[in-house]
Amino acid sequence: MKFKIAIAADHAGFQMKESLKSYLQGQGYEVLDFGCSSEEKCDYPDFAEKAAKAVSEGKADRGVLVCGTGIGMCMSANKVKKVRAAVLRSFDDARLSREHNNANIACLGARVSAVHQAQSLLETFLKTSFEGGRHGPRVQKVDSLLK
Ligand code: RB5
Repeated sequence: MKFKIAIAADHAGFQMKESLKSYLQGQGYEVLDFGCSSEEKCDYPDFAEKAAKAVSEGKADRGVLVCGTGIGMCMSANKVKKVRAAVLRSFDDARLSREHNNANIACLGARVSAVHQAQSLLETFLKTSFEGGRHGPRVQKVDSLLK
């Protein structure tokens, strides 16, 4: 079965979402697009919620959220149970958010990262495994903060 990725953006992230969606499809991933569908102004929590719930409910294996900075999307997604969203600005963010935090949603900023950078951050994020071990109980504690 294909690895499924839930993707969403607000108006600021719309163009980057479209590029990342094509990239991911080209890599063989199944992409579930939760909007938005144009550059018309909209509110990022509405779209973060939809994609984050798909990850939380197991309908998607990972999520990708894009807004201007990635920050608003990340704050919103982390309000949803079982979601561990991380803003990715550097290679180390992409790698360590997976290895140590078992992040399941990557948040990217279309106003702060170029598309090719976002694409390579995403590639690292998707190809890096959780290390487990000492990080396991810590991640469980993170999850238990949302009852
Ligand atoms: C929209 O102008 C902008 O505030 C939003 O895309 C995001 O960067 C918020 O975190």
